[in-house]
Formats: sequence, structure tokens, C-alpha cells
Amino acid sequence: KSYRVAILGATGAVGTELLELLESRNFPLADLKLLASPRSAGTQLAFKGEKLPVEAVDEGSFHQVDLVLASAGAGTSKQWAAKAVEAGAVVIDNSSAFRMDAEVPLIVPEVNPEAAASHRGIIANPNCTTILMAVAVWPLYQVQPIRRIVVSTYQSASGAGARAMEEMKAQAQAILDGKTPQTDIFPYPLAFNLFPHNSPLNEAGYCQEEMKMVNETRKIFGVEDLRISATCVRVPVLRAHSEAINLEFDEPFSVAKAREVLSQAPGVELREDWQANYFPMPIDATGRDPVLVGRIRQDLSHPCGLELWLSGDQVRKGAALNAVQIAELLVAKNLLGRESLVASH
Ligand code: A2P
Repeated sequence: KSYRVAILGATGAVGTELLELLESRNFPLADLKLLASPRSAGTQLAFKGEKLPVEAVDEGSFHQVDLVLASAGAGTSKQWAAKAVEAGAVVIDNSSAFRMDAEVPLIVPEVNPEAAASHRGIIANPNCTTILMAVAVWPLYQVQPIRRIVVSTYQSASGAGARAMEEMKAQAQAILDGKTPQTDIFPYPLAFNLFPHNSPLNEAGYCQEEMKMVNETRKIFGVEDLRISATCVRVPVLRAHSEAINLEFDEPFSVAKAREVLSQAPGVELREDWQANYFPMPIDATGRDPVLVGRIRQDLSHPCGLELWLSGDQVRKGAALNAVQIAELLVAKNLLGRESLVASH
């Protein structure tokens, strides 16, 4: 069986990665439609040695489409997702539009694949930093419940899209040329700088990105009262996010046990060379599927605490790969296509 797929936001950072993954993972495609804004209509993108045209999304775009992989921002998803579902498609949405919707499964395939069965047409792909943390922390959580997570992120420009990556490069060049760096997508220069994530702040002083890590992790783990505090920071890295994670368990969790668990965990690659002082770095995670985890050590301030460090490709596992893995899950469980949608109601 093969499926008619549309990528909404095909020209973006995640969209182009989706295209690459559908090709390299040999997704069973009957047809592939590339959708973006009217700005991109007429552009062509390479797929399996052919050039495919990009179309501006409109009312007719989802006719005879089984699966929509959407990565064009929350506004665009809100505008089109319901229409795609009405037309008979399942939407895997990379935006924040529906993630906390009680009816919408929020899935990291390594953690809660079973949630896919309850979909009603829309499945949400979690926030990128949340996905990376979930992949690394869930295997430990299964061995022993975690009381509290404290996480600091080091997020690359790619999280803000392809244009943001270009903006940072242009800023770096301007600074090297002795000129004033220009800002458009980012509020401040990112090149040779960093700043706390610039999403809107709540009354408690947490930004939206930080609250995504809190709320989405709780939903994915199915643990409503999991205690999490996050500090999200944008750093001048082109691609791949890193995170410093402090875990507090009920009882001591040995470093040896954590290494053993993580060395076998799906989606995780243990990367530490203590002799060489070598640990996961964004440049080593870039373009790769697994979340690189290392620097696992006892928290010297708490007997039940564990510290770990990770780097993961935000565009890949943090977004496109996770979405394609969800799609593969739907294929494997026969949860794609109009008949499955009717059955799931
Ligand atoms: P376009 O290239 O035509 O602007 P990124 O996250 O890398 O910035 O990419 C965003 C993606 O979402 C791009 O493919 C972009 O298309 C697409 N997009 C943005 N706004 C819209 C819109 N209103 N309708 C359809 N696609 C959109």
C-alpha cells in the first residue's frame, strides 16, 4: 500500500528535511505534493532525482491526499488543518497550534506510540527541545520515577527557521566586516551573542518555549504533575540544540545504571570520552538521527540527582524525523487514510 502525501511548508527548514527523509527512508509514496505560501509558487524542489513544483496552498490542495506533514507555523496550521481533515487526510502538525488540545495526540514514537490510535485526524509533533529531552529522559523514567527535572537549553538558529539561519550568518559576516549586524527575525543579534528565548513571557516569568517543555513533557509522559523547570536560551549555533538536564529521582540512580539504560535506549546514542573530555556537540549531532547523550554524572549537591548533557538535531529528530516516524507508525498500524479515520471515530 502507498499513500498520497502533501508537505505544507515544503520550502522551509523542516520542510526540506521532510522531503529528504521521505526519500531516504523510502516512505511508501503514491504521490507527493509540495505546498507553501504564494511567494514560493513555481519554485521547484528536488526529490528522487526529479524536480517537483511547489504550489501555493489553497482550498483544493488536500483533495485526494492521505497525509499532510505540516510545518508552516501555527497560524497556517490553524487555517488549513481542519480543511485537510475534512478532505480525508491525516495531519501530522509540527506547529504548536494543537499540541495541548486534549483530543490531539502529542507523540514521540520512542515514548508514547500507543497514543496514535486515538487520533481524530490531527496528530501533533512536539516542540523540538521537548522531543530531545523526552527521548533521553523517558528510558530513565521507566526504570525509576523522576521527582523533578531542571533543564537549561542551548538552542540553535535553525529552531527559528531557514531564514533565521541565514540571518545569523549575515550577522556574523557583518560583524567580521566591521559593520552593524541587522536583525529581522531575531530581536537581537545572535551572532557572537546569545539571549534568553524571546517567546512571550507569562506572569511567573517563564517564556512560552519554557512552558512548552513543561506542559508537553507532562502530556507525552502521561504524568500530569511532573515537576519541571526550564530555562531556554538561543545560542549562535547554526543547527542542533543542546540541553543540560538535572534529574532528581526518589532514590539514588547510579551513573553506571544510567549509562547501561541509555546505551540501549531507542533514539539515543551515548557519546562520552572522559579521557579526551569529549561530549556531545551540535556539530556532531547535525544531520544525524539519534539524540547524542553524555556527561552523565552524579549530582554532587543531591544524593538522588543525576546530571546529563545532550545534543540533537533540531530540524531532524526535533522536528522532521519525529514527524516522519509518526507517519511510519500510522502506516504500520494502518491508521492512515479515510477508512482508518472513520474507524477511529
Ligand atoms: P514560503 O517559503 O513560501 O514562505 P521556516 O520555518 O523555515 O521559516 O519555513 C516556513 C515554511 O512555511 C515555508 O515553507 C513557508 O513558505 C511556509 N509558510 C509560511 N507562511 C505560509 C502561509 N501563509 N501559507 C503557506 N505556507 C506558509
